[in-house]
Amino acid sequence: MVPAATRVDTAELHYDGHVYPLPVLEGTEGERALDTQNLRKDTGLVALDYGYKNTAACKSAITFLDGEKGILRYRGYPVEELAEKSRFVEVAYLLVHGRLPAHRENERFSELLTRHSMIHEDMGQFFKNYPEHAHPMAILSAMVVSLSSFYPELSQGSPEEELDFTTTRLLSKLRTVAAFSYKKSIGEPFVYPRHDLKYCANFLNMMFSSPVCPYEPPPVMVKALNVLLILHADHEQNCSTATVRLVGSARVNLYASIAAGICALWGPLHGGANQQVIEMLETIYRAGGDVKKVIERAKDKKDPFVLSGFGHRVYKSYDPRAKIIKKSCMEVLDTLQVKSPLLSIAQELEERVLADSYFAERKLYPNVDFYSGIIYQAMGIPSSMFTVLFAIGRLPGWIAQWKEAMEDPEFKIQRPRQIYTGPAMRNYVSSAER
Ligand code: CMC
Repeated sequence: MVPAATRVDTAELHYDGHVYPLPVLEGTEGERALDTQNLRKDTGLVALDYGYKNTAACKSAITFLDGEKGILRYRGYPVEELAEKSRFVEVAYLLVHGRLPAHRENERFSELLTRHSMIHEDMGQFFKNYPEHAHPMAILSAMVVSLSSFYPELSQGSPEEELDFTTTRLLSKLRTVAAFSYKKSIGEPFVYPRHDLKYCANFLNMMFSSPVCPYEPPPVMVKALNVLLILHADHEQNCSTATVRLVGSARVNLYASIAAGICALWGPLHGGANQQVIEMLETIYRAGGDVKKVIERAKDKKDPFVLSGFGHRVYKSYDPRAKIIKKSCMEVLDTLQVKSPLLSIAQELEERVLADSYFAERKLYPNVDFYSGIIYQAMGIPSSMFTVLFAIGRLPGWIAQWKEAMEDPEFKIQRPRQIYTGPAMRNYVSSAER
């Protein structure tokens, strides 16, 4: 259940000779909102807000974010602490259930994720029919929506049990689907999940072992993957999460809502940026490593090029996730003894951007996508899979947000308004007369 926001004040709208009171609401951390829910009913006006820069579409008790101060907390816990002390599966439980699990609950949740990790054998056929270079995000979204036909909603059982089941299935099977789509892309046989491996190690094993070559996931990779997935696990009302809520508001099932979120995440301005970053760094490297040239291009208003991995709608300071990922990147490369020329390019790019007034005035800093790809690359994961990894991480957040929306007593189908600026009423002219 979403706790109510407190009414702390009243603002006034003076319009057309009338004064309209507008309630001012306050959330737990002191952020304030103007309640405009009755605006159109009372005044005939609608609010126009491109990109929802000022629009809160819901109240939520899941994630708190202060973009000015660089704060990110899940259910009240700072991400820094969770990344250091927790594991992805525990964080998934926290997001979905609203509290940290007791030891036994954690063990059971982990066991359930292991038990549900296989996908229906017939789904294996789907992968086979994709063209060789199909993007894994296309496969992932199609497979997730297909899960709804293989695992339809239960006819018996309470809605809570049903949701628990679907949640577990999704969390567990998404990584299997992801690893299968990678194996398909390189023409290797699928590797089935193993019951003796935990979530992240299991995923790495499905990605990198083969019938001719056993694989032991290096602990540093397991740890880094846990950290990366935790840091991607939720980010309040970002584009893909807002999509999951919007699609879910039509009361469609969870699989279909998540598939829609995966499609939104694919975009290069959103989760697709991690693939763009590595491709940008590779292009710089191949062109001789001149970082200054790309910075000039990014500042040129006549050029649509942007520096991928920089800037954020809500962070106007250093993205707290990027700080942790940068540190983890050094650790992974060091331990695996990987010398990445892209890391030095990224570091120089960051240094120059932070010292440049164009970026400083616009408060553009490295975001979550800037260093993650270098870690994935060091692990041997190809760039087309980077956004898939983002999706695996974001899944518990999408589920938690979907669940919260469905349980919200103020639930409404989401249906924005518009200002019509097309032609005024005119009569049809037959084709002979045109
Ligand atoms: N490179 C160059 N200029 C930029 C960049 C960038 N990466 N980001 C923003 N700007 C400029 C933008 O041109 C605008 O300049 P002006 O005020 O002169 O018109 C100003 O900064 C404000 O940017 P905006 O586009 O109005 O900001 P937004 O909140 O609408 O967009 C963004 C946010 C993330 C889409 C944008 O910063 C961007 O395109 N970044 C690169 C793509 C990227 O890294 N995306 C991942 C975001 S974090 C993970 C996630 O959300 O999935």
